[in-house]
Amino acid sequence: MPVTEVRASAEDFLGMPVSRFLREFWQKEALLIRQAFPGYKAPLSPEDLAGLACEEAALSRLVTYKRKLDQWQLRTGPFAESEFPKLGKKDWTLLVQDMDKWDSDVRALLDRFRFLPAWRVDDIMISFATPGGSVGPHVDQYDVFLLQVQGHRRWQVDASTDAPRAFRADAELKLLQEFTASDEWVLEPGDILYLPPGVPHHGEAVDACMTFSVGMRAPSQAELIVDLAEELAARLPEESRYSDPDLTEPNDPFEIDDAALARVDQAISSLQSLGAAEKREWFGRFITRYRAAGEVSAGPRVPSLASVETSLAKGGLLLRHPFSRAAWVADGPTRSGNALLFVSGESFAMDRRSAHVLASYEALDDAALAKLDAAGRTALGELLQRGHYHLKRASRTRE
Ligand code: SIN
Ligand code: CO
Repeated sequence: MPVTEVRASAEDFLGMPVSRFLREFWQKEALLIRQAFPGYKAPLSPEDLAGLACEEAALSRLVTYKRKLDQWQLRTGPFAESEFPKLGKKDWTLLVQDMDKWDSDVRALLDRFRFLPAWRVDDIMISFATPGGSVGPHVDQYDVFLLQVQGHRRWQVDASTDAPRAFRADAELKLLQEFTASDEWVLEPGDILYLPPGVPHHGEAVDACMTFSVGMRAPSQAELIVDLAEELAARLPEESRYSDPDLTEPNDPFEIDDAALARVDQAISSLQSLGAAEKREWFGRFITRYRAAGEVSAGPRVPSLASVETSLAKGGLLLRHPFSRAAWVADGPTRSGNALLFVSGESFAMDRRSAHVLASYEALDDAALAKLDAAGRTALGELLQRGHYHLKRASRTRE
């Protein structure tokens, strides 16, 4: 079956209603969407991207393909500016992760992806490739929307269910040993290729091109279990341990008998006895910490909540740190009940409206502040102390 190709319309950038996309394609099948973002202009240039790749804090990679030898070379940043002119005119790609955190115009693109839970979205990675540049055929563990922003890229995918997935041993990149394309297209600016996890793909630049990858994140079951177990373990006192006050003399002292195994079950029973409320709180804290892009910490001078309130009243804004991850959960079964807000691994109790405002607003103004209940304000004060917001005072206009 060939991969489905659709053309987007002004109403449906996915080329279909969201409900159909989620039902038929999300996490299931690849989809090519022609002209999902017609006329979208890159908010930054390849030079800006290269500039960022020279910064210590940015996560950047450079992939060079030695075509004659069929060899890929991977280098991680930061890079020196002087390195770029030496790379030549073809067969290399520069990739920078977390561009949504570094550039608010790039971040604005995420508004179009609010049909997915925001906490499922990881980042927007931007790649710039010279003709022939690629990262080689590979598979990703996460869903990705590959938006062609500038130039043209030839994408090949192997959408067959029995596609081989063994990696090549000779490259630092996790390249596939074997790759045979079942489908192939040249993407133009504005086109999107959606890939669910596990579909082998290979994208080669036709001309100098820029691709934005909106990538998802999904914790592995192993990560979830380890984190939950660590959380429970931290709560258990040293004295809570395997105990056998009911011990009778064993038949064979070297046998681990059924009574002993029953006591082991007892000792690890807290794993099953975790209540629904505790599980909500643990997951919210976990997922807002998971794959964090960078540390958030307060600057040397943090304004008090009172002075912030005065500034907001004069037209100032509180801007959330781009690396802060936030989500909220309803705390209890009723619709009007309380909620928990999570920010980068910490939880705060408040009403639902406050939790919604603090989780979803990137900038808080006077009107947003007025929507917070007392607990929401207290939480905001604490978040301010921890560096999750910074104040942008209203610019003074001359009269
Ligand atoms: C790229 O942008 O060059 C690679 C993106 C991907 O294959 O996931
Ligand atoms: Co990929």
